[in-house]
Amino acid sequence: MSQCNIFDSKTVLPDSDLAARQKTLLGFDARYEKIHDQLRLLLNLNELADWSKKHHGQRIPLCDLVADQYPLVIFYGDVGTGKTATAECIANRLAKESGTEDSMLFKLSNRVRGSGKVGEMGTLLTQAFQEVIQSAGKNRRAILVIDEGDSLAASRSQEHSHHEDKVAVNTLIQCIDDLRRFGGRIVVFLCTNRLSVLDAALQRRAAIVEEFLRPNEDERRELLKMDLTGVSLTESQLAELASVTGPKNGAPGWTFSDIRTRLYPAALASAFPNQPLSFTHLHEVAKNMRPSPILEDF
Ligand SMILES: Nc1ncnc2c1ncn2[C@@H]1O[C@H](COP(=O)(O)OP(=O)(O)O)[C@@H](O)[C@H]1O
Ligand SMILES: [Mg+2]
Repeated sequence: MSQCNIFDSKTVLPDSDLAARQKTLLGFDARYEKIHDQLRLLLNLNELADWSKKHHGQRIPLCDLVADQYPLVIFYGDVGTGKTATAECIANRLAKESGTEDSMLFKLSNRVRGSGKVGEMGTLLTQAFQEVIQSAGKNRRAILVIDEGDSLAASRSQEHSHHEDKVAVNTLIQCIDDLRRFGGRIVVFLCTNRLSVLDAALQRRAAIVEEFLRPNEDERRELLKMDLTGVSLTESQLAELASVTGPKNGAPGWTFSDIRTRLYPAALASAFPNQPLSFTHLHEVAKNMRPSPILEDF
């Protein structure tokens, strides 16, 4: 990964770190299959004309209608439910399956918001899309991840929406419209914690809108079992940990990242350096810590 201005990172795909990361994501394969099936047409628009000729003896008008799809995927859901990780790993899988040439994954930085100068945000956004477009080739995909998309793509009709923000959303919509001419070689993943604040025109354009949820009890148990390999826990202890990390007293269940970035380190810290990590350490933390709150989405 290299650093630069408008992007937080640029990664050449396929990437071995992402391939390894994918293995640690519960339910990834099912999600990938589902999204891939939905994306397949979009990703192969260049083959649509041949398909039509072959099966209908002509280019049927439906081809043009379908070709009007926008290469935009929206992931929404609470913080820590896997939107960013899944977008990156899906990009990696798509690149891997799309042929011989390396593809490129771009992560847009919040620095495109600029310093507030008139027109700056729109200009930076346009620059970013230019760079993404330049990196795509005949057999090379470019995938752009816009994380925390609500800070960039919030509805233009919001009361407190500033002129600059409106311009930026307009620019973003134009840039995404423009991507259609690449026949699916460029795809944008936009992640947001709150779907409702996204501009309606963007929501309408999305070929896929996918919700990410906090893990249910079975998923929490599976996650714990996978992550705590080598720590001798019984099935009933795993079930108990899955249960105490569930919703209670009006509080939601723990998110994936609550479990991975808060439960494990705190439990480990209480065992280290003189004791092995045990059920009790994990249980104490799980009982006493609160999951991250739900973001209101009206
Ligand atoms: N499906 C999953 N299975 C296991 N762990 C997950 C899953 N989704 C997310 N995580 C964990 O939660 C962390 C945060 O995920 P992230 O993609 O950043 O969430 P979001 O973008 O929705 O806030 C990841 O680094 C990962 O360790
Ligand atoms: Mg994220």
